[in-house]
Amino acid sequence: MWIAANRDARTFDQPNAINTERNTSAGLVWGQGVHLCQGAPLARLEMRVALEELLSTTKRFEIAGDDVPCRTVYPSNGLAALPLRFS
Ligand code: HEM
Repeated sequence: MWIAANRDARTFDQPNAINTERNTSAGLVWGQGVHLCQGAPLARLEMRVALEELLSTTKRFEIAGDDVPCRTVYPSNGLAALPLRFS
């Protein structure tokens, strides 16, 4: 249960809070040991390039619409959708 492990309060202070300064070295988002994700370097590169490109043309962003975001279902994690408006 990678998702539960990444929210373990014995390892992560305030595990449900967004903290961009958090030390994630104990995180299991890429799995661990013999099950370590083979695509992690590619996925990190894709995320960095996508965020750099998006933020280079973005001054601000906000939640679009009034719908309350709903959670996705296992084995995914997080929100099913979160419409944002970039400007
Ligand atoms: C944000 C993106 C990604 C996340 C969060 C992620 C996460 C994971 C996790 C947690 C596992 C371990 C699954 C388990 O055994 O329980 C895994 C395995 C794996 N991932 Fe990823 N992954 C991502 C992207 C990718 C990409 C882009 C590729 C290939 C291009 C990839 C290829 C693999 C492969 C081949 C395995 C099996 C490794 C093994 O057990 O030998 N993943 N990934």
